[in-house]
Amino acid sequence: MLTQQDYAGIVESEIRRLQLPAAPAGLYEPIRYALDCGGKRLRPVLTLAACDAFGADCERALNQAVGVEMFHNFTLLHDDVMDKADMRRGRPTVHVEWDERTAILSGDAMLTLSQHIASQGCSPEQLPRIMELYNRTAMQVYEGQQYDMDFESRHDVSVEEYMEMIRLKTSVLLGCACEAGAIMAGAGQGACKALYDFGVALGLAFQLQDDYLDTYGDPMVFGKEIGGDIANDKKTWFNIIASSEDLTGVMKAEMSHPSEPAVKFERVKAVYDALDLPARCHELIDRYIQQAIDCLDEAELIPAAKNFFVELALKSSTRKY
Ligand code: IPE
Ligand code: IPE
Ligand code: MG
Ligand code: MG
Ligand code: MG
Repeated sequence: MLTQQDYAGIVESEIRRLQLPAAPAGLYEPIRYALDCGGKRLRPVLTLAACDAFGADCERALNQAVGVEMFHNFTLLHDDVMDKADMRRGRPTVHVEWDERTAILSGDAMLTLSQHIASQGCSPEQLPRIMELYNRTAMQVYEGQQYDMDFESRHDVSVEEYMEMIRLKTSVLLGCACEAGAIMAGAGQGACKALYDFGVALGLAFQLQDDYLDTYGDPMVFGKEIGGDIANDKKTWFNIIASSEDLTGVMKAEMSHPSEPAVKFERVKAVYDALDLPARCHELIDRYIQQAIDCLDEAELIPAAKNFFVELALKSSTRKY
């Protein structure tokens, strides 16, 4: 097994080598911009590591790794339009640097490119499995994103509905990234499923931490603006618990007659603090991290591979960006 940084480096150089046409520049420049401005590369790292874990050269899954990262970046272009988000990875988002119609069309092109890249290098037996996994995951991400938007105007969203929404919009892609690597290594069905389940549980913890950082992160480190979820009335775990436990009336008042954004943010955050939600959220995150780690038992990994995934999972519960 290599380190997380090593796998990320392999992905980074493959992305840099990707040949994109020069024209029309209005279509391809935003794609380069989105791909070249970093990101943790978590999903492709999972793909390469999963492939390695089952004894194959990680390069066997390089196309699937890059395909998943391209798909992830496509979802971000559209997500930032949907969420009215102006900053990502410390830079203006594509719809701010260019405009919304550019973000839509370059995003569309990234979706098609991602599917093309992910289908490369598969054996005749692997191709239908990779494509089925890819297409199922993509549809689930769209369903999750729709629920995320639907929930903005609802006031009765339950924690169960929230967990299902984040499973769809975020977790299944981490599961897909893991399973794609296992498939490309020729792992058995049980091992593929175990790695998929690991990715999904990790994804739940990952999105909970993202929601925490959206209120409590340092924008200079997080790379995104803080407070977008509160401004948009996103039904995060924080919003749902605060709305059901707040006795001060602040949550209700801010949902129906919001103060100006900076005041709303401070008032809502004060409710979260008073209810000790950051610590309580981290207890929940730790439970999902443990659930993820438990899934690894079924995969029967060699110790070095198991350690890799355990360390990656533990690190993501305290990530700052
Ligand atoms: C952002 O994903 C979208 C979520 C699912 C929270 P990442 O936090 O992995 O974003 P990058 O790719 O590292 O920028
Ligand atoms: C991300 O959810 C889900 C997808 C992009 C599919 P968020 O909307 O919370 O992600 P960020 O915070 O903008 O990265
Ligand atoms: Mg969103
Ligand atoms: Mg967003
Ligand atoms: Mg977020």
